[in-house]
This record gives sequence, C-alpha cells and structure tokens, in this order.
Amino acid sequence: MIINPKMTYSLINGSLVGPEGSVVKGVKSLKDTLRIYANTQGLSEDLLSAINYRTEVYTPETTEGSLQFATSYVYPGTVNGEYFMTKGHFHEISNRSEFYLCLSGEGLLVFMDRQRNWWAERMHKESLHYIPGHIAHRMINTGNDVLTVQACWNSDAGHDYGTIENDGFPVRFFDRNGKLSIEEV
Ligand SMILES: [Fe+2]
Repeated sequence: MIINPKMTYSLINGSLVGPEGSVVKGVKSLKDTLRIYANTQGLSEDLLSAINYRTEVYTPETTEGSLQFATSYVYPGTVNGEYFMTKGHFHEISNRSEFYLCLSGEGLLVFMDRQRNWWAERMHKESLHYIPGHIAHRMINTGNDVLTVQACWNSDAGHDYGTIENDGFPVRFFDRNGKLSIEEV
C-alpha cells in the first residue's frame, strides 16, 4: 500500500500543513515576554503588541522515543536596543537533545550549560545546529527579517522555562549604533 504523507513542510517559509488540528500554533507578543529583556522602560503600545515570536508544532506521538517537529518564527526588533529573542529553556527531561535548521533570517543560537558557561552559533539560511542534552538554548534575531527555524526533538523532552526566568542567561545582545554588542551580565 502506498499512501500520501499526512503533512507537508515548506522549505521556503517553514509552514507546516496537515489535517485539521495537527499543527498547534502559538504566538507570543512582546507583552508576554517582557521579563526576559533587560530594560523595558518606556515601550510604546505598538511595540508591546508586536509579535516577539510564534510557533507551529506537530506532535504525532507523545510516548518516550517519539519525535516532535516545529517551526519557530522569531520576529525582528529591539527592546531598548536589545534584540528580540526567545525565552530560552532547558529541557524538562534534561538529557534530551534537539536539532535546529535555519531556513531564513539572521541570528544567534545561544547555548548555556549548567555551570552557566555560554557560547553561540551564528544562524543563517541553511545553518544546522545540534543542541546536546543538559544545554539551555535561546534564539536571538540580529537581522531585519523574520528568523525562521525548523526544530526536531523528543516529544517527551518538555520545556523548563522557569530556570531561565529566574536566573537568565549570562549574556545579552544589543544593537548599539547598528553594531552587535555582546554584553555579559
Ligand atoms: Fe528545546
């Protein structure tokens, strides 16, 4: 028996298309993510309601050993100079790993281990990133276009956002007069 695949995935814009209900969409506007930024004084209503990032997630199974597939869209912009970014997380089951494939845009994938050592990889069209277990990860959009990234990871991994909400990353990335400024905190 030969059947058609349930899902299609666009290599151009990352969109996942499948049967009704198979793709779960999420949107975070800046007002949902304010606490991740260093300085949120004096932001306009327009900026607060701007999209920070959105996601499309396909979870065919949730049992141990199964995989999830998703697209993240990190929007361009700055918050008092600090580039738009994702919240960042460890995995709840900490040893779970993940692949990211950048489809478009420009940015950084920031990694942090449990000892708070950090490093980052440049993200650009067709850059492929492996995120080992026990490593927190966050995307930063340093460009002028949407940073579109495909992800594949274990369905049971879960997201530990709390550790990052409490402790943050040891580094922040700013646009200072049009140049990338790396500021350790
Ligand atoms: Fe992850």
